[in-house]
Amino acid sequence: MKTKYTIEDMDRIADEIRSRISLYPQIGLILGSGLGPLSEAVEDPIIIPYHDLPGWPLSTVEGHAGELVIGKLEGQNVLVMNGRIHYYEGYEMSQVTLPIRVMQRLGIEIIVVTNAAGGVNQDFVPGNPMLITDHLNLLGMAGVNPLRGPNMDEFGTRFPDMSQAYDRELQELARNVARELGITLYEGIYVCLAGPTFETPADLRFLLGAGVDAVGMSTVPEVIVANHGGQRVLGISGITNSSNLYGEAETTHEEVIETGLVLAPKMMSLIRGVLRSLPSKADTYS
Ligand code: HPA
Repeated sequence: MKTKYTIEDMDRIADEIRSRISLYPQIGLILGSGLGPLSEAVEDPIIIPYHDLPGWPLSTVEGHAGELVIGKLEGQNVLVMNGRIHYYEGYEMSQVTLPIRVMQRLGIEIIVVTNAAGGVNQDFVPGNPMLITDHLNLLGMAGVNPLRGPNMDEFGTRFPDMSQAYDRELQELARNVARELGITLYEGIYVCLAGPTFETPADLRFLLGAGVDAVGMSTVPEVIVANHGGQRVLGISGITNSSNLYGEAETTHEEVIETGLVLAPKMMSLIRGVLRSLPSKADTYS
C-alpha cells in the first residue's frame, strides 16, 4: 500500500467522492471511538465505504466503522468520516492524515474532529465532553510530524503557524451552544500519544505536570494537516475514563466504548448546535 501521496492520488479519491454526490460538502466531521451513532443523524445520506476509495487506508479497530457519510445535518452539507485510522495500527502519518488532504481537495473549509480521551485533569468526570483549546504535540517534539518531508506548497507554507490550531470563533460557538443546552463542556489541552498501550501511572503524572487535560491516540496529526491546508478546526474530546495517577484501576477499551455510548448524544447535541449556528451555504456541484 502507498505511504506517500501526490496531489494526483488525492484528487483521484476526491473525484471518486465527487462522482457519487450532488451536495458540495463544506464541513468535515471526524468521529472517534464509539461516536458512530452521530453519522446516523445525517439526512439523505450517501454512504461510501472506505474500500471503494482508491488508496484510502482502512481501520482495523473495533468501534471504528469504515465509511464516509455525506448529506445534510442541521442545514449544513457535511462529510462525516465514520471511523478513522490511527498511527498505532502501523500506518504512516501520511496515511493517517490523507482524509484531511482529500477534504481539502474537496474544498471543505471547516473540520470538526472528535475523539475518545482519558481525563488527565482530576476534575473531569467521565461521560462529559471537553472542548479542545490547544494540543501538546508530544509526537511532533519526538520527530513524528505529518508535515515532515517535502512541503506540499499547494496546501500551505513550510513552517505553518500553530498559535490558533483550534479556531477561536468555533470554540466560542461551542461554548454558547453548551450553555444554551445545559451541557457540561470542559475545556483543555489534548495530547496525542502513539498508543496502543494506555498510559502508565508515571506517564499520566508526567502529562499532568506538562499541563495536559486529556490524553488520546488521534486528532493531533489531522489537526496539524488541517491547519497547514488553511482549514478551521473545532475539536471535541469525549472523556471516557479518568486517569489513574497511582494505578488505582485499569483502563480498558470496553470502558472507552461503553462511556462513548453515554457521550454520543451529548456530543451529537453539541455538534448539531454548532452546525445550526454556522451560516449555511447550499452549493451543489454542477
Ligand atoms: N488514554 C489514551 N487514549 C484513550 C484513553 C486513555 O485513557 N481513553 C480513550 N482513549
